Amino acid sequence: MADTETTTGTPADGGNGAGNGKKATRERTPFAESAFWRSIFRSGVPRTRAARMMGVLNSVFLHLHPVRLPKHAVKVKYTWCMGGLSFFLFLVLTITGILLMFYYRPTVEAAYGDIIDLGSQVPLGIMREIHRWGAHLMVITVWLHMFRVFMTGSYKPPREFNWMIGVILLVLTMFLSFSGYLLPWDQLAIWAVTVGANMARAAPLLGHEGPGAALLSIGDVNFIHAGADAKFALLGGRFLGGATLLRFYVLHCIGVPFIVMIFMIVHFWRIRKDGGISGPT
Ligand code: HEM
Repeated sequence: MADTETTTGTPADGGNGAGNGKKATRERTPFAESAFWRSIFRSGVPRTRAARMMGVLNSVFLHLHPVRLPKHAVKVKYTWCMGGLSFFLFLVLTITGILLMFYYRPTVEAAYGDIIDLGSQVPLGIMREIHRWGAHLMVITVWLHMFRVFMTGSYKPPREFNWMIGVILLVLTMFLSFSGYLLPWDQLAIWAVTVGANMARAAPLLGHEGPGAALLSIGDVNFIHAGADAKFALLGGRFLGGATLLRFYVLHCIGVPFIVMIFMIVHFWRIRKDGGISGPT
């Protein structure tokens, strides 16, 4: 649909534009049909069902959604939207977490002061509160999501694999929460992580006081002992200190979120492959 632009002449050419007494017309392509626009929005304004479908399939962002959704899948009464809320909170935590990284230094000398300063000295210091409360909320929404999936029997075939991916996501969410807990480096954080690390000491197979630790040995050589077990790996030594703080910081900001993202991609992909969100039977 080419638009036309009509120009009239200037006084210099006798006021007739082309100088021949007629109106001159110049072809003009609307911006929405220019090559530039079409290179980004390939499907035009979707006015039909087929065009809407192509619009979804052709967009890198929209195609993350299914082209068609059964009605029950968007009913809050059925899903409680807890999976969606968990994902939303994960995004909020990622953004606020990156902002916090500009100000926080994971050292024994600086950590506690930096956290205090975040509330009083730093513009948008509220980011810390959003990050903290968002983290508490995400733990709650993930548990509620799991509860909903259980109550609607959505763990049954063909979704049993996705249930297992979900369990891994739950454990990783808990570990994200646990590792973030140490970063304020206050008394609560230090003693909470001391308790957690002592629990790791008693973990089956991996903790040197746990059941089965002695099994991991060859002859007289024990692979799991006080200097090489889950607790030691968590703390970065025998006792909680600067090495623990750095370890938790790297795991909390890079290591675990990266793994969570990979499992979330698999989780969402599996929902589609299993025929979309389950329905009431
Ligand atoms: C970070 C954590 C998680 C996120 C972001 C997440 C996200 C989602 C989303 C967005 C859905 C679509 C339906 C809905 O919103 O309810 C879903 C479905 C599902 N999730 Fe999760 N999830 C997480 C953890 C879990 C956990 C802990 C489990 C179970 C152990 C689980 C098992 C499932 C299953 C089986 C489905 C398919 C449910 C159905 O078809 O009705 N997810 N998840």
